[in-house]
Amino acid sequence: MAIEFFHTSVSPEAVSLATRTLMSTWLSEGRRVKEFEDALSDRLGLVNPAALNSGTSALHLALVIANVGPGDEVILPPQTFIATGLAIVMQGAVPVFADVDPCTGNLLPESVAAKVTSRTRAVMPVHWAGLPCDMDDIQDIASRHGLAVVEDAAHALGAAYHGSPIGGLSRFTAFSFQAIKHLTTGDGGALCCTDANDARQVMARRWFGIDRANSPMSVLGEREYDLDTVGYKYHMNDLAAAVGLGNLQDFPQRLARRRLVAARYLDALSGVHGLELPPCPSDRESAWWLFQLRVDRREDFIRALASRGVPASVVHQRIDRNRVFGGVRSDLFGQAEFDMRQVSIPVHEGLSDADVAQVVDAVRAGW
Ligand SMILES: Cc1ncc(COP(=O)(O)O)c(C=O)c1O
Repeated sequence: MAIEFFHTSVSPEAVSLATRTLMSTWLSEGRRVKEFEDALSDRLGLVNPAALNSGTSALHLALVIANVGPGDEVILPPQTFIATGLAIVMQGAVPVFADVDPCTGNLLPESVAAKVTSRTRAVMPVHWAGLPCDMDDIQDIASRHGLAVVEDAAHALGAAYHGSPIGGLSRFTAFSFQAIKHLTTGDGGALCCTDANDARQVMARRWFGIDRANSPMSVLGEREYDLDTVGYKYHMNDLAAAVGLGNLQDFPQRLARRRLVAARYLDALSGVHGLELPPCPSDRESAWWLFQLRVDRREDFIRALASRGVPASVVHQRIDRNRVFGGVRSDLFGQAEFDMRQVSIPVHEGLSDADVAQVVDAVRAGW
C-alpha cells in the first residue's frame, strides 16, 4: 500500500461507541460529551476541557472570553494555519505578526516583546508541528503587560513542557480534533481554561450563552433564561464525542508510535548532507504532528522522494500575506528563512517499520 502523508485513525472502540450512540438516538450534546471531557482531563491531564465543534471555535471563544474586541491587537506567528488569524479578525481585532525561530517555526519571545503596544490584549503561541513554544518566556512577557495567553495547541495534543502536559499551562489552550489530527472526532476541538470562571463562561457560551446545567425548565417545557450577551453554537455533539472517546482508548499507544518513528528518523537521518533535522530541546516533548525538516533545493527533494514512493509536503505556508490580514509583507527574518526550507515527511502511527525504512532510504538516496 502507498505510504500516506497524513493518516486518520479510527479505533474499533470508536466504531462501536459511535454505533451505540446512533442507536440510542441521543445525538446532541449529552452524556458522551461529558464522558469525553472527563476522559481528556483524567487520561491526558487537560485542565477544564470543554468539548467544542472545532479548534477554530475554541480559539475564537477564548478571545471572546478574554474580552478581545475591535481595535485590540493580538500577537501571533505567521507560521500557522489561517484559523489562528481568522479568530482574531472575527472579533474585529488586529493580528500583529511576530517572528519565529527559523529552526522550529515557533514564536520568538523577544519578537513578541518587541511587538507589544498599549493596545495589545493577547498573545497566541502556536505549538508548531507539536513542539511546545518557549512558554516560560512568553508567560513572563504576558504577565508583565497584562496579556491573555491563548495557546493554539491544534498540533500538540500529548505534548509536554517542563514535565506538564500542554492543556493546563496558560489561561486558555485550544485543541483541534479535526480528521487528520492525532485524536479525531471527525471535526471537533476543546478549549481548556486554568481559571474556573473562564471555564464556566465557556460552558455557557458554547451553547448560545445558555447555561444548560443551571437554567431551569418552566412548566411550559421551555428553558428559562434572559441572555445579556452573545453566545455561539460551538458545542460538540454526542456522536462526535463517542468517536473521540473511542479513539482515546489507544491514543497513548498511537502517540508512542509517532515518537518512535520520529526517533528513528532523528537517528537514521542525522548527518545527511543538505538537510537539517527538527530540534528536540530536552525540557519539552513534541507530539510530532509533523516531522519537519529543513532542506536545500526543496522542490528537488519533494520530486526525488515522490519518485521513490514517499510523499513529502510543505505544511503550511505563512499566513501574514493574506489580504484579510492587510496583505502586508512583514520583514520577519526567521519566518522568511523557515519558509524557504521547511518540508515534512510522513510521521504517524499508520507507518509500518518497512514504511519507515523506505522513507529513510528515500531521503538518504539524495535529491
Ligand atoms: C495551527 C492550527 N490552528 C487551528 C486549526 C483549526 O482547527 P479546526 O480545523 O479544528 O478548526 C488548525 C487546523 O487544522 C491548525 O493547524
